[in-house]
Amino acid sequence: MLSDMTQLQIAPSLRLDDIRHLVVMAKSVTGISLDETRTDFIAGRLGRRLAANGLTDYAEYCRLLKSDMAERVAFGEALTTHTTSFFREKAQYDWLLDEGLAELQDGGRTKGRETVFWSAACSTGQEGYSALMTAHAARDGGLRSFEPRLVGTDLSRPVVRRAEQAVYARGETDGIPAELRPRFLLSSKKSTGIYRIVPELRTQSTWRNANLVTGHGLDGIAADVVFLRNVLIYFDAEIRQRVIDNVYRRLRIGGFLMTGHTEASHARRAGLELVRPSIYRKVA
Ligand SMILES: C[S@@+](CC[C@H](N)C(=O)[O-])C[C@H]1O[C@@H](n2cnc3c(N)ncnc32)[C@H](O)[C@@H]1O
Repeated sequence: MLSDMTQLQIAPSLRLDDIRHLVVMAKSVTGISLDETRTDFIAGRLGRRLAANGLTDYAEYCRLLKSDMAERVAFGEALTTHTTSFFREKAQYDWLLDEGLAELQDGGRTKGRETVFWSAACSTGQEGYSALMTAHAARDGGLRSFEPRLVGTDLSRPVVRRAEQAVYARGETDGIPAELRPRFLLSSKKSTGIYRIVPELRTQSTWRNANLVTGHGLDGIAADVVFLRNVLIYFDAEIRQRVIDNVYRRLRIGGFLMTGHTEASHARRAGLELVRPSIYRKVA
């Protein structure tokens, strides 16, 4: 009996003071607005961080967060969600192919320069590569005179590294339309069911760590199409506004901002006009 008891892992308990501290910290490190009542979520995400640091108490963990920059990064990592897929919310890519990309070229707006796609919370890269595949499909369809370039940014360094590697398991590539697969995917010679994005798209891509809330890492971006999808939902109204402003400043006039379909109302702002649900055009 005693030996059973000694093996029991006691889950550290979250006190209200700790929760409040973690909520403030989450907002300052990632911008994410944690719900104080979702203690299961907080404990589920952070329990591993306590264990990794050999701690059994959240108050100690809060003290560690104050003094340890590396742990703050790991904390942000533990709280973020990286779910993504190729051609997620496909209607937006279809619209780009059928209308949006041609409209970008109207009046020679992009003539003589690259057309820049920015995947602003890129996770492991599928969103950005889907945009490039769409751009190439548009070129094949006759929209010849533009050179696509992709910039992918994310708060999380590990996902940015994965995006750059551009290696995906078969299940992850399911969203890629059948007609695009032979052109943009290479099969691994060593492992079955593993694919890599072709060099042509990889060389057109740049990936970097950046924070949409503080603007850190966003210098020099001037985009024609921004994908800001499935990230605004994690922020409160004040942080959302800051993120939208940071993105708006880096979107060229006449360019498009795509949000997640549940997030469209969050992007309302002077200077952005709604083209269709979850697609905005910068007009001023
Ligand atoms: C759910 S994924 C969305 C991925 C992709 N945009 C999509 O719609 O499929 C959210 C991404 O936002 C990133 N993220 C969260 N807070 C961020 C911030 N403050 N700055 C930049 N990226 C952030 C996360 O690391 C995560 O990879």
